[in-house]
Amino acid sequence: ELSFIHRYEPATDPTRPPLLLLHGTGGDENDLLGLGRMISPGSTLLSPRGKILENGMPRFFRRLAEGVFDEEDVRFRANELADFVAEARKAYGLEAPIAVGFSNGANIAAAMLMLRPEILAGAALLRAMVPLTQAPAVDLAGKRVLMISGALDPIIPADNSQRLAASLSASGADVQHEILPAGHNLSQTDLQLLVRWFGE
Ligand code: MLT
Repeated sequence: ELSFIHRYEPATDPTRPPLLLLHGTGGDENDLLGLGRMISPGSTLLSPRGKILENGMPRFFRRLAEGVFDEEDVRFRANELADFVAEARKAYGLEAPIAVGFSNGANIAAAMLMLRPEILAGAALLRAMVPLTQAPAVDLAGKRVLMISGALDPIIPADNSQRLAASLSASGADVQHEILPAGHNLSQTDLQLLVRWFGE
């Protein structure tokens, strides 16, 4: 028994990297399967459900208010999720996955990059914000990160996503940060950018 409720779809194209799909607040393990198949056809998909419930809505860590995180819980949950990924890699025989996270899922992926960098090969962070006020010193050399932010996002101030991109770059990640004329929701352009980035 693995430690998170999750969906698993084995690869049909073994040349494609495995994806770790991380849903937003109120989503679940089914939400991003369609997105994953579209942006990297044939990849293994590993899609856990966040263990925190906020008014019945699953999430990956606790928050005190919208955009205000319980950082002790961020650390605990990022480590717990990293342990799950390590278990799942063993159970299913997977390489280190690329995280594809939306909103709360992007934030836990960013926290995992900072706290357990060996767990992920890279990450696509959709509408992500700074998960920890003190970014731990970490070596992200060789990891590709795509960040896609919305200039009109009511939850994430522009300088916040820019600070996250800068901090990941300063740690050595190969960061591509795209800022779209969009809000918090994903747009067609997000999909196009994801398809292109996965094809590179
Ligand atoms: C978060 O709590 O991670 C952010 O506020 C994004 C969200 O889930 O709404």
